[in-house]
Amino acid sequence: LAVCILLAAAVAAASTAQDEPHSYRNFKLIRINPENDATLSYLKSLYEEESPYTLDFWQPPSHVGGVVDLTVAPSDASSLIRDLSARGIHYIVAIHDLQKAIESEKSLTSWAHPPKGFGYERYNSVDEIYNELKRLKRERPSLITLIDIGQTHENRTMLVVKIGGGQSLDEDAPSVWLDAGIHAREWIAPATAMFIVRELVEGYDVDPKLQAMIDHVPFYILPVMNPDGYEYSRTSDRMWRKNRRPAECQHKDWHTVCCRGVDLNRNFDWYWAVSFLPYFSASGSSSDSCHDTYHGPAAFSEPESMAVRDFLEAYPPKAFISLHSYSQMWLIPFGHRRRSYPADYSSALRPLALRATKALEAVHGTKYQVGTGADLMYEASGGSHDWAKGALKVPFSYLIELRPRNTLFGNGFLLPEREIAPVGNETWAAIRVVADEVFSQF
Ligand code: ARG
Ligand code: ZN
Repeated sequence: LAVCILLAAAVAAASTAQDEPHSYRNFKLIRINPENDATLSYLKSLYEEESPYTLDFWQPPSHVGGVVDLTVAPSDASSLIRDLSARGIHYIVAIHDLQKAIESEKSLTSWAHPPKGFGYERYNSVDEIYNELKRLKRERPSLITLIDIGQTHENRTMLVVKIGGGQSLDEDAPSVWLDAGIHAREWIAPATAMFIVRELVEGYDVDPKLQAMIDHVPFYILPVMNPDGYEYSRTSDRMWRKNRRPAECQHKDWHTVCCRGVDLNRNFDWYWAVSFLPYFSASGSSSDSCHDTYHGPAAFSEPESMAVRDFLEAYPPKAFISLHSYSQMWLIPFGHRRRSYPADYSSALRPLALRATKALEAVHGTKYQVGTGADLMYEASGGSHDWAKGALKVPFSYLIELRPRNTLFGNGFLLPEREIAPVGNETWAAIRVVADEVFSQF
């Protein structure tokens, strides 16, 4: 009997461990502004080499003055803080209990009355998003086309919504591509993409200029590029970033470790896994399948990046925009290496980015930095916006890091639902500037 009870208890424990999402109770978000090279190289060693602590870099170290955000497990917090203090490194604890911050991301009203179905000012499930797209399609069959561009590892559909330009797909027509959610935990990105879907559909009837633009320059929007990862971040681990590629095992020291997932924004064929730094396998990407920036076994090894590549090669757009969060930056190629720019960087890409961010700021006063990801943040090879410009030759290619900034009160990936509408409005104002430019040029 005792054995049975023990066994039953073990089974119960195992099943709750599976069903319960990862708890971030008392995990801390530490924010550091590295003031000198010694601090920077210490932080880089924590990021790139084996660290004795359980850390998750939300903003990896790049240069002196570039803010670093990292979370630390409660069991390691005091030793890390002791270590920082001993080295004279200034830091702030931006979040004291990450689990509490995760819980307050949802609006108070949605806790009180758990809503049913899709909402434009909520963080929705993949099913809710797809149902909303299907509903829009039923309502506006001549304006909207839904395109299944591929399947994920877990057999979820990758659904592109085409708005405008007629119902047939035309390889030569100028168009604007917008994707979101390549990184699972950046929930504001899919929410913003859906907000823009609604702006386009509703604006079509009331805004003749917009109507003329969309008739000529359709939008192709992929609101959830990494649906497996997105669902995993909703149900199991809020801080998941990669896709859900089945585990790969490797021998490390004296044991075998197996980890799932590829960073899809390191998996595109643009300087894929190429190294410019002697001490890192590739710049800003990792060959370690357990790392959050694992680039995968080969360029385009993943169904998600493959599907996007195949679609874009068949229907190359005039503008490519990829939505991420966070840090309020409008990033221009190239991000794989510092001081590396396309030929029309200063004549075309940057001036348009400045106009777009000016329109963005005019809405709610939100300020964006403009430049390449490598210059403003860190070098990262295998990025989709670099591939779109460098390999596919899309004229205007950008990566947008949405709100918040990493200031004293910014909660990083945990942006409250009440900010979805303001982010949607300001981002749409900026993207419209890009689309208008495509309309006037092509
Ligand atoms: N946060 C994004 C990522 O990690 C942005 C990368 C932009 N490129 C860059 N070189 N920083 O994929
Ligand atoms: Zn991202």
